Parts: sequence; structure tokens; C-alpha cells
Amino acid sequence: MTSIHWKHKHLFDVSSLSIGDIDTIITLAKYFFVNNRAGHKGYSLLQGKNIILFFSENSTRTRLSFEIAAQRLGATTHFLQSAGSSMEKGETLSDTMRTLMAMRPDACVIRSQYSGAAQYCSSFADVPIINAGDGWHAHPTQALLDLFILHQAWKGEYKGKTITIVGDVKHSRVARSNIHLLQKLGIHVRICAPRTLSFVQGTFHGVEVYTDILKSVEGVDAIMALRLQRERQAGGLIPKEYPSCYCITRDVLECANPHVLLLHPGPVNPNIDIASNILGNAVESRIEEQVEAGVAVRMALLYLFCVPHAKVLY
Ligand code: CP
Repeated sequence: MTSIHWKHKHLFDVSSLSIGDIDTIITLAKYFFVNNRAGHKGYSLLQGKNIILFFSENSTRTRLSFEIAAQRLGATTHFLQSAGSSMEKGETLSDTMRTLMAMRPDACVIRSQYSGAAQYCSSFADVPIINAGDGWHAHPTQALLDLFILHQAWKGEYKGKTITIVGDVKHSRVARSNIHLLQKLGIHVRICAPRTLSFVQGTFHGVEVYTDILKSVEGVDAIMALRLQRERQAGGLIPKEYPSCYCITRDVLECANPHVLLLHPGPVNPNIDIASNILGNAVESRIEEQVEAGVAVRMALLYLFCVPHAKVLY
């Protein structure tokens, strides 16, 4: 079997990935996705490996999908969260990492409220560090699973496609990673947010910025709604009219391309990010498929990062 040429040690953000790397991840994820759906879930590709999931910020999807992904590949997972750990007694992040590495794991998946935490932790690690979301900075595995959905729907044809990212772009690591990834593949990106929640000026080139939601989605092929992230907001950033201006409703979907896809990284604030009457039953929604894809994409990533000379399985 041919080996995959994979040169990366860690995953901090999507910016380090080439088009070829992205294609490898999506193709491998598709192999796992199809097998997962068919009920073929047991592999020994990571047999005997120990993977630490170090989460110091809350998570449902990312944590569980990494755990399920690792276990389906045959690895054993070990979960550490800062609540209940010795970090509560004042142990520093660097000492925590030195302690984890002394246990000789094979990889460490890190979620943190601090931007740059995964990269910082890698300076204490001789095993792959995978960023599962760090502060406002990046959420590379979310962007890759979002891309998987677009790739499936558009059959890998990104040329001429446009997506609008709606909502709290300013505080969103999901938006940042997605914009990098989508632009790299030639997808045109619009954002729509109140001015106080648009990203800091000058960060991205080529992104069209809107404040009017109906104009922002005219003719687009996908809409990605974001969660309004109250935990990251200083007072006064959210206009009182936010839900009436930026919530995705049936009227908003009707302005887009008839085959528009609706994505959201979750968790959703009903009637703030997306109207509750379209949540769960809109034909355009890919939200549950995003969660399903999350397992397959993380299986692909764990295999590529944990196994030197991983084999082409497809
Ligand atoms: N999308 C996402 O990161 O969700 P969780 O916070 O539930 O992991």
C-alpha cells in the first residue's frame, strides 16, 4: 500500500496546510465517513496509542467527536479538564504540559480559552499537538469539517461559489479558520454582522463586508451562521435589534441560491442565530451532518498526525 506524504507535526490552524494536504484530509475523511455510515467502525490503525484530550474550555461536539474518532481507530483516550485538575491548585499551563508529556502519550488534543495556547503547549511537547479551538484565534478541525460538507454538496467544485458568514465574526475562531480555508480554495467569502461584531479591520483581504443580511445572502451558495458568543463580549457590542437583523429566517434563505446550504458550528442560540421554526427541519440545514462529518474528519486527522507514513486507505 502506498504511504501518504504528511510533513506536519502539529495542527495549530489551517494556514499551514497546502491544497494537497487539504485534499488528503477530505479524501481520507470521506473514506471514514462512508464506513461510519455503513456501520464499519472498528480499526486498529491507532492500536496501543494513548491520546490525551486536554480541554480547559467547555465543549460537546469537539470533545466527543475526538474521543469517538480516536476510539474507532483503536486508540485509548484520556480526558483532562482544568476544573478538577491541579491547575485549580495553581499549577501553570507549562507545568501541566510537562506533567502530561512525562506520561508518554502519543498525541494531545487541546482546547483552551487562550488564543495561541496550542502553539504554546507544543513547546513542551515532543508529540503532535492538535488545536481543538483556542480563544479567538483558530478552530482548524471545525473549518475542515465545514469544508467536508461543502465538498460533498458541490462535488469538490469550488470555483464560482460564494458563502456568507453571518453573526459574531469578531469573536469567532470558527470564522477566522473558515475564511483562511475557503479563500485558499477560491471560494468567495462575504461576512454580515453589525459593525461592532465585524472583524478588526485589515485582517482579511478580498472579504466583502455587509451589514444588511438580505443583501449579504443574495444568490449565495452557502450561509454559515455563527453563535453569538456572549462569553467573549465586553458590554455594549450587541445592538438590541441583533436577533431581528441577523437571525437566519425563512425570508433570509429565500434570498439565497435555491440550493443554498445552511451551516452552523453549534451550539445554536435559537431565535438569535437561527429561527427555531427552521432549526431541525429546514431542507437547507447541514447542521447535524456537520457533527457527523466531525467524527470522520477527526479520524482522518488523528491517523495522519499519529502514524508516520500513514497508508492510503482509499
Ligand atoms: N463547534 C464546536 O466547537 O462545538 P463545541 O464547543 O460543542 O465543541
